[in-house]
Amino acid sequence: MNKELLKNTVAHLMSPGKGILAADETPSNIGKKFAALHIENTPENRQKYREMLFTTLGMEEYISGVILQDETIYQRTKDGVSFPEYLKDKNILSGIKVDLGLEPISEGSQETITKGLDGLGERLEKYKKYSAKFAKWRSVIYIDSETCLPTEKAMQLNAKGLADYAYTCQLHDIVPIVEPEVLMDGNHSIETSYKVTSDILDKLFKALVEKGVFLEGVLLKPNMVIPGLMCANQVDPGIVANKTIQCFRENVPAETSGIVFLSGGQRDDLSIKHLALMNQHNDLPWKLSFSYGRALQRQALTAWKGQDQNLQAAQKAFLEQARLNSLATLGQIY
Ligand code: 13P
Repeated sequence: MNKELLKNTVAHLMSPGKGILAADETPSNIGKKFAALHIENTPENRQKYREMLFTTLGMEEYISGVILQDETIYQRTKDGVSFPEYLKDKNILSGIKVDLGLEPISEGSQETITKGLDGLGERLEKYKKYSAKFAKWRSVIYIDSETCLPTEKAMQLNAKGLADYAYTCQLHDIVPIVEPEVLMDGNHSIETSYKVTSDILDKLFKALVEKGVFLEGVLLKPNMVIPGLMCANQVDPGIVANKTIQCFRENVPAETSGIVFLSGGQRDDLSIKHLALMNQHNDLPWKLSFSYGRALQRQALTAWKGQDQNLQAAQKAFLEQARLNSLATLGQIY
């Protein structure tokens, strides 16, 4: 494990005013987004869409890393440059989603464990040859008061899976992004979100330390502490920001130098505002930035619609979201 290399990668990804673009939707996941806009879900259209994003002039001012996916890491621009090489020329690091999706923790269970530990080392070596410098693994925690979720067992299993993945990545000099996503689906309150987020973060960091993971060489990708999307009692952005910071102060060791949030289905404007308000706290032990998928891409995809003539409008929309999120990492709201 080359700790200096891991720390340098983290430092690059957490460069002031920059964040990560999560463009690692699987073909089936991006297919759902395409279907809503009547875009055919073909490898060619997926390549065109990602090329539209990555060739946006000036994105490198706001974006330090892009998370790719098993198909995308091998794709090329229309001029024949591989996406990782193209991004490297813009001083943007390539990351790779290495989990293989979710499966029920036991037959018939609503809760899931993330697949992909088997053969992970070999996959990391393969992706390294394609310039991957960091990786992502997503675990999902579900809240459902009627069925008493999440269970202790699901949280323990997911914390352990994340720790095993993170350790393997570091052995291969790849920075792991650990993502224990507490879903916003449901009508739970912000207090419940606080309790569950706190619990999974506590279990995650215990598992990481027990496994011997080098915390300065990890990025945490969490949800914010926020009410469920169907909760009748939505709260002010300031409350989301304060509760999230409080929860993280209690559970995230200061050595974890980088926290990059997921957007998780929040409105674009709110994901920016929450991040900006959190960054207005000036005594934080860690840097806070973004690793957004939907909140960075929603407007660009809607503008693009799969049509070449919309390329410029789509890139403009993407650049503007990236710029606003960049300002939010500096605590500024416009
Ligand atoms: P969202 O920002 O759309 O939640 O996606 C981030 C991500 O990478 C989820 O794994």
